[in-house]
Amino acid sequence: MESMGNLRRTHYSTALNQTSVGQQVTVAGYVAKVRDLGAVVFCDVRDTKGVIQLNFGTDCDDATLEKAKILRTEFVIMAQGEVVLREKSNPNIPTGMIEIKVSELRILSKSETTPFEIKDDINVKDELRLKYRYLDLRRSKMNEGLVVRHKIVREVRNYFDENDFIEIETPVLMKSTPEGARDYVVPSRVQPGKFFALPQSPQLYKQLLMLSGYDRYIQIARCFRDEDLRADRQPEFTQIDVEMAYVDEIDVQTMNEGLVKRVFKNILGVDVQTPFPRMKYSEAMDRFGVDKPDTRFGLELVDITQAVKNTDFVVFKSAIEGGGSVRCINAKGLADKLTRKEIDKLTEVVKTYGAKGLAYTRLTADNETSSFEKFLTAEEISAVRALAQAEKGDVILVVASDNMDVVYASLGALRLDIAKKFNLYDPKQFNFLWVTDFPLFEYDEEEHRLVAKHHPFTMPKEEDIQYLETDPARCHAKAYDMILNGVELGGGSIRITNPELQQKMFKTLGFTEERIQESFGFLVEAYRYGAPPHGGMAYGLDRLCMLMAGKDSIRDVIAFPKVQNSGELMSGCPDFIEQKQLDELYISSTVEE
Ligand code: AMO
Repeated sequence: MESMGNLRRTHYSTALNQTSVGQQVTVAGYVAKVRDLGAVVFCDVRDTKGVIQLNFGTDCDDATLEKAKILRTEFVIMAQGEVVLREKSNPNIPTGMIEIKVSELRILSKSETTPFEIKDDINVKDELRLKYRYLDLRRSKMNEGLVVRHKIVREVRNYFDENDFIEIETPVLMKSTPEGARDYVVPSRVQPGKFFALPQSPQLYKQLLMLSGYDRYIQIARCFRDEDLRADRQPEFTQIDVEMAYVDEIDVQTMNEGLVKRVFKNILGVDVQTPFPRMKYSEAMDRFGVDKPDTRFGLELVDITQAVKNTDFVVFKSAIEGGGSVRCINAKGLADKLTRKEIDKLTEVVKTYGAKGLAYTRLTADNETSSFEKFLTAEEISAVRALAQAEKGDVILVVASDNMDVVYASLGALRLDIAKKFNLYDPKQFNFLWVTDFPLFEYDEEEHRLVAKHHPFTMPKEEDIQYLETDPARCHAKAYDMILNGVELGGGSIRITNPELQQKMFKTLGFTEERIQESFGFLVEAYRYGAPPHGGMAYGLDRLCMLMAGKDSIRDVIAFPKVQNSGELMSGCPDFIEQKQLDELYISSTVEE
């Protein structure tokens, strides 16, 4: 192994092109490929920007040529030489016209054979990639994701800076926040028996900053939520957290549309149209079955309850009598593709969301088959088909349930499944929208009580305040989510600044005076000393990066992500700690190691 000596990198690979021909340059990086042709050795060297070909040929001295012959992939090298035009160019890479005729080579570090090849298209298990994440991150596909992430953060900071926001850090060791997930907790050594919570978001602190007069706040904030992982969920994730004073919903939304417009233009060159379309929560549920609709394709839900309200068909009848409904999706033009076998697969999809089955009518060019029409009258059949706007070539897929949540969730998921399977949308299209007018409360089945849908500091719509105590279920919130292609990119609300209204809200949520004091006493008190109207939102930075970098999972834009069981495969955390550490924290574990 050698030292760099007096060699220093002069250029990244992609900074060199035909105009560099004749220059003496030094490049540094990993050996990506070696071809030993005897009298000449070709080697691709890879740095963070790309690759460039090194030519150890007739011009280099024997010692250098000999050294080149021991190069293997992933050796770390520096090479100095002259940029020349290649004899045979490679149109597939940006530096394909040129190469470096090496006069000096330094082998700075050798590498054992890596557990998988460092190239874009590899077919290895995720577990192995994550165990050797530092090698995985050498691949240009991974590099791309992290570079996009860096650029987004840079644009975010610049945008908000130009709009008079200041970035303020808030504590990571804090009191529990009411975001609704389980907390990660940290024991205090100095105050035995007591715990900090890691922030699920900086919500309370950013509200307090508004009361401190910092009327435009932003933070790239790490958040922690002990919840089940999904492709767009990690226990540790990053928010772009925003709060502003002297605003109503439209002001927060407009400011954030400006951010999105800039980020997409400057990074992807994509023009995003603003203002974004707005859709009320109730409409989103009705048409798409979810509160984060992917509007790149149709397959909307159709309510056919009216058409079958007098039927004796027990599946529909019991759903309607039980207070639910019968709804369908018209899979337009898919009759030939949605065979019985395919419909069976779709049935499994809806069953995972609680539906008992999936009824269908398949209208191929020469045949009509249906699992439920034999139980309906001719009028009912034509009413259903009319509502679904069904024609030859279509398939009507029906879910009936006495539980509206089941109808929505199963058809919402079915919609996505069909669209994905049959490529019904353009993966390069970006459809933004705001979902607004969320219910203020939702019923918690486990706790048998109303809970805040967003959080307890969310402002009700003015016209609904009168019902807060008498009919809370009909109250809507000044809350909004920003949706991109069916992903909840961010969400926020206008906050309650009136102490009496806040008190009413707590009462409706069933909080005792004691609980209020214990959990939020400091916040309630703070609002007594002058509070400008304020609101904000937070984006999932990881989700934004995932969508902009065209990845399927937020893992691909996080350098060191966690896996399904919330652990990290490379370092092997979480892990047991020494008894001494536990003793210092006055903690005893009930688990045997
Ligand atoms: P909310 O809980 O909706 O709002 O979170 C805001 C956004 O954060 C992202 N997000 C996540 N991303 C990855 N992994 C997770 N586990 C995860 N959980 C949430 C989502 C989501 O839209 N304090 C409020 C915001 C406000 O009212 O200003 C909040 O945290 O993209």
